[in-house]
Amino acid sequence: MSKITIAIDGYSSTGKSTIARQLAETLGYIYVDSGAMYRALTLYALRAELIQNDVLDKEKLIQSLPSIFLQFTFNPKKGYAEVYLNNKNVEGDIRKLEVSKYVSRVAEIPEVRRKLVAIQQEMGKNKGVVMDGRDIGTVVFPEADLKLFLTAAPDKRATRRYKELLERGDEVTFEEVLENVEFRDHIDSTRAVSPLKKAEDAIVIDNTDMGLKEQFERVLNIANRVINQKKKDA
Ligand code: CDP
Repeated sequence: MSKITIAIDGYSSTGKSTIARQLAETLGYIYVDSGAMYRALTLYALRAELIQNDVLDKEKLIQSLPSIFLQFTFNPKKGYAEVYLNNKNVEGDIRKLEVSKYVSRVAEIPEVRRKLVAIQQEMGKNKGVVMDGRDIGTVVFPEADLKLFLTAAPDKRATRRYKELLERGDEVTFEEVLENVEFRDHIDSTRAVSPLKKAEDAIVIDNTDMGLKEQFERVLNIANRVINQKKKDA
């Protein structure tokens, strides 16, 4: 069995999901967007009015956790799995800035992380998985065969995310997107439980000035090297 586990972590809007999808498609692996799960829980909290006047009712959210059902279903038209919250496709709604504004506060709740990490570990237990997030190489799969850590200058990342949101028809300003990217970086890196940090054995990819093609070729080369080594060792 030469399938490997690939963990991709990094700051907001560094293009983790793009590279993860490309790798999964090329290698025939499963792609799991762990951020989509934190986003779906945040959407739940917003819809259930557990976030009001900028205040998140953590206790009520924790109490609601057993009744929140998350699931990924592959969409052949899009070529990736979309996230479902209590059996409804919420892929479009979870990407909105309103969700981005609160997601890092939901993601710092230990009970939330416990629930989601358990689901993520179950999804990846048979290897052949590419998972992206903040704590994949450090907490979810500390034994991953390949760990990447993506980074890029904040204004570059905000520009990419701003364009993405405009293309989807969302009304946002560049300033609020940049503010959100920096706000999430801060909370994600300083929270008490599973903060975003580079695993010691992760390979850093700074894609500030790197095109998608160059990045993909570089990362695929690295992945193939790890896979071939594994075959030799078997
Ligand atoms: O796409 P982007 O990089 O902007 O974010 P995302 O991957 O969709 O993740 C959204 C948020 O979920 C992050 O800012 C984190 O607060 C949280 N998250 C986390 O805590 N742990 C993960 N494994 C994945 C996401």
